[in-house]
Amino acid sequence: MPKLALYSELASYYDRIYWWKDYAQEVDFLLKVLHRYGVRGKHILEVACGTGNHTKLLAATGYRVTGVDVSDDMLAIARRKVGGRATFVRGEMKNLGRVVEGTYDAAICLFSAISYNLTMSDLKRTLQGLFDHTRKGGVTVFDTHFTKKGFIDGHRGEDIFDDGETMGARLSFSRRRGKIGEITFSYLIKDGPKVIMLRNDVHRLGLFDLQDFRKAMREVGFDRIGMYVDWKFARDRKQNEPRDNVFVGRKPS
Ligand SMILES: C[S@@+](CC[C@H](N)C(=O)[O-])C[C@H]1O[C@@H](n2cnc3c(N)ncnc32)[C@H](O)[C@@H]1O
Repeated sequence: MPKLALYSELASYYDRIYWWKDYAQEVDFLLKVLHRYGVRGKHILEVACGTGNHTKLLAATGYRVTGVDVSDDMLAIARRKVGGRATFVRGEMKNLGRVVEGTYDAAICLFSAISYNLTMSDLKRTLQGLFDHTRKGGVTVFDTHFTKKGFIDGHRGEDIFDDGETMGARLSFSRRRGKIGEITFSYLIKDGPKVIMLRNDVHRLGLFDLQDFRKAMREVGFDRIGMYVDWKFARDRKQNEPRDNVFVGRKPS
């Protein structure tokens, strides 16, 4: 995968760019999922853990988390944030077997990170790794905002942040290229006396149907599969544009 600015030279701004994201609500839902699927153990494998926001909340609730991410810059922030309450290792999600051993009560891969798998065969490789490292009766949970149907060609977006010290803006432009969704980010950040201008941070995302995910999950071996919207068990019928599709797969006992 090419180096993405958001996860390398701009990694220290990641949390500020996503200041609006409700990690606590997601972890709360995740814990309810674990309860609902009968997962009692406390070991979690977190793939594409990023700067460790879910990790920190899970560790505070008593979970022992191993975080994996391909970016050293993101991992450095996660280590600083979570300290010794979790273990972090650098690794590629398609080759989990090379960096982690054994099985966990749950394996998670959150904030659309799964969509960095561009082809069905890469997606299945990642899902296979998640499955292999989930213990029997445990669950894998992942989410994505990006689907074949939901991806809007030509979509423009902006994220603005200002924490009193640093202010910044990120513009995004989305383009559909066949089965791939391409989002190009441009950033303008004023950090004290330093001004950063960065263009053409291109993120390529695999676009799959919800049914493709479900089929791939079945094929790698999950038996009970749940699909939820926006970190809730019940769908809000008034909201016709889901932000997030959350998938849960149980590994047979
Ligand atoms: C949108 S961020 C999500 C981070 C974190 N899960 C969160 O919720 O804030 C995507 C993360 O996936 C990581 N990533 C992207 N491709 C990856 C890959 N092939 N293997 C492992 N990590 C990957 C990036 O380095 C980045 O930290």
